[in-house]
Amino acid sequence: MWWEAVSETTIERLHWGCGSWRPTGWINADRKEGPGIDISCDIRKGLPLETESIDYVVSIHALPEVPYPDLVPVLGELRRVLKPDGVLRLGLPDVERTIQAYLRKDRSYFPIPDEEAANLGSKFIVHLIWYGYSRTFFTRDFIEELLLKAGFGGVRHCGYKETSTPHPEIVELDNREEESLFVEATK
Ligand SMILES: C[S@@+](CC[C@H](N)C(=O)[O-])C[C@H]1O[C@@H](n2cnc3c(N)ncnc32)[C@H](O)[C@@H]1O
Repeated sequence: MWWEAVSETTIERLHWGCGSWRPTGWINADRKEGPGIDISCDIRKGLPLETESIDYVVSIHALPEVPYPDLVPVLGELRRVLKPDGVLRLGLPDVERTIQAYLRKDRSYFPIPDEEAANLGSKFIVHLIWYGYSRTFFTRDFIEELLLKAGFGGVRHCGYKETSTPHPEIVELDNREEESLFVEATK
């Protein structure tokens, strides 16, 4: 890599859509309130953060809860708070993997208990809509298109725990490798 890893000590990093997962060393934000959540607000009303104040933002499986008409504005709000060389990293459920698991009849892919949904098709649907919480599904080309519409200048698809940024610790929050896609966008 042409860059040197950036010292993480002075880094401002936002974890948007943290839910019940509130790691230390991050500005944890969610519309929920609770211990360890630093910012509680609906992002659609704007984040109480200065423009160009954040080095990187990571969001894991939160965007699916945003309704379609709000996706580009929400991505635009995340872009607003990024410094000019800032990065947004998203982990999203990959709808292609979910469909493939259904087509190959792989029940083990779906972490849905039989008491909730016993049949393969039932598990597929409950997983896809995540018990009714998910409003939007994602493919790689769909999120890329949305990011570009929101004004991001560059989009890179990456693997689990892989980054093309000078911030090795940006991958710290990656999880659910089997069912997720990961993408990084630069301003
Ligand atoms: C499926 S949970 C994911 C939580 C966590 N990132 C994880 O991977 O376990 C999605 C989170 O996004 C939050 N969220 C959804 N829409 C939001 C919004 N408009 N503003 C702020 N938070 C939102 C929800 O409250 C929820 O905690």
